[in-house]
Amino acid sequence: MHTSQAPSTTLVILGATGDLTQRLLMPALYRLWARGHLEGVFVLGYAVEDWSRERFWQHLEQALRRFVPEFNPGVWEGLRDRVGYRSGDLNPERLAALRDGLAANALFYLALPPDLFGPAAEGLGQAGLSDDAQGFRRLVVEKPFGYDLASAEVLRRQMHRHWREDQILRIDHFLGKETTQNLLVFRFANRFLEPIWNAQHIAQVQITYAETLGLEGRWRYYDRAGALRDMLQNHLMQLFTLVALEPPSVWDAEILREHKVEVLRSVRPIPPEQVGEFAVRGQYTAGVLGGQRVPGYGQEAHIPPASTTETFAALKLYVDNWRWRGVPFYLRSGKRLGADYAEVAVQFHEVPTQFFGPKAPGCNWLVFRMKPQESLELLAWAKAPGLSLEGRPVTLEAPYERPGDVPYSAYEQLLLDALGGDRAHFLRFDEVEWAWRILEPVLAAWKKGSPEPYPAGSEGPVGMARLMEEGHTWRPLGGA
Ligand code: BG6
Repeated sequence: MHTSQAPSTTLVILGATGDLTQRLLMPALYRLWARGHLEGVFVLGYAVEDWSRERFWQHLEQALRRFVPEFNPGVWEGLRDRVGYRSGDLNPERLAALRDGLAANALFYLALPPDLFGPAAEGLGQAGLSDDAQGFRRLVVEKPFGYDLASAEVLRRQMHRHWREDQILRIDHFLGKETTQNLLVFRFANRFLEPIWNAQHIAQVQITYAETLGLEGRWRYYDRAGALRDMLQNHLMQLFTLVALEPPSVWDAEILREHKVEVLRSVRPIPPEQVGEFAVRGQYTAGVLGGQRVPGYGQEAHIPPASTTETFAALKLYVDNWRWRGVPFYLRSGKRLGADYAEVAVQFHEVPTQFFGPKAPGCNWLVFRMKPQESLELLAWAKAPGLSLEGRPVTLEAPYERPGDVPYSAYEQLLLDALGGDRAHFLRFDEVEWAWRILEPVLAAWKKGSPEPYPAGSEGPVGMARLMEEGHTWRPLGGA
């Protein structure tokens, strides 16, 4: 039930007429409102369009009808009264006008193009909006956090001119995903994993995020970013740290993030002259996906035919600490691959002597599956019925959701965390910084040459096999 409680927090969305607001933020806010989570919150849209509040409402309603299948006009009417609009740019004088009418607390969400993050943070600060003497003032920033190490550092300095690190919430939406959070719960809420969660028992880890999607109209951003910056530097690197981190002594956002940074700092630097042994890039060519012919990347609208942007990236990392020394972590992600398939898969070593069948390279996997649906899987070797003691692979599978569960999307989770001030699932600057450090040699090497072609609808470039250590192969997109 909604009450007419006066707002205690204003959520100001800068870039409120843009794509992110339409596709992700408003649908998440709508659902949170429908579930009764937004009591006390007033949403204030801010953008350059000279619109009335009613015009903004119309724009949002259209977006909600498009992106929220369960849209209900009655629910929207309730939320609408909690939504306002102001027009303006990032000039501090214009931004200062936001001061009137803010509730005690304010969260500024930068749903803006990346080159405006710095100016927006500065403008808000100069307008006095980072001053949290009377109530909290927080800044939420989307990726990309810089384009490389140097630009990330410039952005950090710009943001820190007026904002403290503890006021800045850097969103990586993967940290709001159920499977990502389950990595922590499953690892640290069960006794049986910890004794074997190390190099003595684990042979390899494969982290895959394969998409059939192409550019989705995001050519301007994507052709400059590429798969390494778009997916590996942030999302896959986060999954990797959650697999590898040490158990925290207490549940505390700072300690958790400390441990994640420790993992990143322990990654063996990729030797600049051997990048080809640690990283592979690819670019899709024309192919068939779901029975449809799709163009190659260079033929996509607005993409220069000679673009060398990678649409697939794979990486091999080693963590040189006591727990992980010698275990390869393979990370890969790509667009226009054969399946929407995503997982974190951990393979244990084989038993020293296998009495009950052939060697079983496809076995002993613990899989945290994200796509096509979330589940936990354990692939093991078990007796096949019959007179002999022959074994065969079996899969113990636990679907993640049960009937009656109430899942929340990543954006819903993270918006609530941001409003509540829980920083555990947001990135601290040093996580961003170390992720860039790891990738610096790869980014430098990839300035030259071009990615290996792979047909749309395939498993990716053939060359990705060269990352594998002896006896390892990439898991097929669709499971072992
Ligand atoms: C985004 C990337 O951060 O994550 C996209 O920019 C990618 O390119 C997306 O498609 C994948 O996440 P999800 O949650 O939409 O599967």
